[in-house]
Amino acid sequence: MRRAETMTPISGKLHNSDLNIVLTGFMGTGKSSVARELAHMLGRKVVDVDAEIERRAGKSISSIFAEYGEPRFRDLETEATRETAKGKSQIISTGGGVVLRKENMDALRGSGIVFCLFATPEAILERTRSNKDRPLLQTSDPLGKIRELLETRDRYYRNTCSYMIDTVGKTPGEVAREILEKFCLKAEK
Ligand code: S3P
Repeated sequence: MRRAETMTPISGKLHNSDLNIVLTGFMGTGKSSVARELAHMLGRKVVDVDAEIERRAGKSISSIFAEYGEPRFRDLETEATRETAKGKSQIISTGGGVVLRKENMDALRGSGIVFCLFATPEAILERTRSNKDRPLLQTSDPLGKIRELLETRDRYYRNTCSYMIDTVGKTPGEVAREILEKFCLKAEK
């Protein structure tokens, strides 16, 4: 994504909504940076479910995967998601695999509006290649792994959101504004 540019003022009606804005999507689609932009625009707080998992476990995501394995990580993710979804008026940034469990998405969808960010496998590789914090992508063929995971997860991403948002070639600010326009329409109904 390109650099963020100056913000435009946002409709006052949004400030009255207690619905959460929930961001889902594959690793490297820009959830965290878009969440920060949204929080800045709306004066809301960001809750990052991965950070919540790390805080509760007292360990990094990589350590949790290495020490306990992915199934235990998924249980911790479900607990953190359930708790996070109880809050109101938040910007919630989720981990890329949160869509895999129906109970996670039931809780999130019940708490607000879900926006799924997407990008091409190549753009995802570009955005994730220098970061070693994603255990699932620490393989000799990260692009192949990205393609494989996207293929198996595609229907979950599509079926669990209200809107799919293309992020390729857009700044986090542009993506955030697109989300706000759509959120406005839903929140006003
Ligand atoms: C994962 C995505 C990561 C993190 C964990 C597993 C996934 O979050 O939850 O490494 O299964 O896609 P980000 O999407 O924030 O990188």
